[in-house]
Amino acid sequence: MSDNSSEIKDISLAHKGLERLEWVRERMPIMRHLKARISDEQPFKGLHLGICLHVEAKTGVWLEALIAGGAGISITGSPGTTQDEVAAALTKEYGVKVFARRDESFDDHLQFAERVLESEPDLIIDNGADLHFLLHQHETFAQVKHKIIGATEETTSGGYRLREELEEQAFPTIVINDSRAKRIIENRYGVGLSVVDGIMRCTNILLNGLKIAVIGYGYCGRGVAICLRNLGAHVTVVEIDPLTCLDAHLEGFEVGDLGDAIPKAEMVITVTGSSGILAKEQFADLKDGAILVNAGHFEFEIDVAGLREIATDSRQIRENIESFDLENGKKLFLLAKGNPVNLAGGDGNPIEVMDLGLALQTLSLIHLIENSATMEHKPQNVPAEVESEVSKMALEAWTK
Ligand SMILES: NC(=O)c1ccc[n+]([C@@H]2O[C@H](COP(=O)([O-])OP(=O)(O)OC[C@H]3O[C@@H](n4cnc5c(N)ncnc54)[C@H](O)[C@@H]3O)[C@@H](O)[C@H]2O)c1
Repeated sequence: MSDNSSEIKDISLAHKGLERLEWVRERMPIMRHLKARISDEQPFKGLHLGICLHVEAKTGVWLEALIAGGAGISITGSPGTTQDEVAAALTKEYGVKVFARRDESFDDHLQFAERVLESEPDLIIDNGADLHFLLHQHETFAQVKHKIIGATEETTSGGYRLREELEEQAFPTIVINDSRAKRIIENRYGVGLSVVDGIMRCTNILLNGLKIAVIGYGYCGRGVAICLRNLGAHVTVVEIDPLTCLDAHLEGFEVGDLGDAIPKAEMVITVTGSSGILAKEQFADLKDGAILVNAGHFEFEIDVAGLREIATDSRQIRENIESFDLENGKKLFLLAKGNPVNLAGGDGNPIEVMDLGLALQTLSLIHLIENSATMEHKPQNVPAEVESEVSKMALEAWTK
């Protein structure tokens, strides 16, 4: 086992991290309520939580509540989305073991995920299923795997991987994304708004009138497309599912296939959960000056490695914009290295929607602690009573 002290960018940033937490805490009434409750009840007393979730201020406020409820915590994030100052504050002020740096590579990310598992957690909170796959595919973690009471998985992509690619599980996993509350409130409203915010912060350009192709019209894509249309952008939706295409058409969007949409689009946004959506075949067909944006969980939706291979030159021209010259004389601009633009280029989803999402996480973890012995060892939905309780808390907090 390696030394399991935190691995972060710079501990001296801790005071800035605390300032970030202060504003976010103000805007998380559900978490305030839950923190008071779990401080009394101590449901996590004596338990260690191994977490993979974006290391940013909303997650930080959530960890404050879990710690107040008795939890010990190790956490890692995702490439490009860590707020280094929050990582420092969590390490210095709360004794959390943090393995995350904004500039980490995907290989670093997997190593950091291993460090989290080396802390021998009792429960895991996953984001994209990396912790699950490491636990189930590496002999090193055989013992840890059998100690685990249960897990949650935050994302659409992770839920899909667990169902389609992991044959057997050693514990139950509640897939937070499967709840209607998360899909409707976070994916539709939160992601739409924060993706627009991330694009604006990266580019500072006028979106009104821009021709934008949104690839993927699921919960997130629909939110992104609607938000952009509300700003006056001309949005074309690209989808593989015929019924979803019909839905987009009836919602008033132009619907096209990749071949039609790509040459016309001034901006292309991928939000599918699948990899290689924009690949070498498409890059040459893109309009000169097109801006490439990813909003899906995986950085691989745009084949950035392929783009580098075919580019004759590339330069970082602004903090989150890299310019690529192609052999055919065209220029393409990639935002935030292909990482999710709302997290890598902005602050992620609006605070209020994450307040709701993290409340779903908290009550799902308590459900696992109380019920895992009788739960099936497979991915499953958020319990109805958890979803209903969180929705009530949100309605009360947001309408008073
Ligand atoms: N950036 C964020 O903050 C954030 C938040 C939540 C979820 N996500 C991620 O966003 C992605 C989408 O999530 P969702 O909840 O909308 O999923 P979803 O399953 O509701 O929708 C995905 C859509 O993409 C379509 N699709 C898949 N492959 C395609 C292809 N090759 N071409 C065109 N369309 C294709 C599917 O038919 C589906 O309609 C996932 O990776 C998810 O983890 C990101």
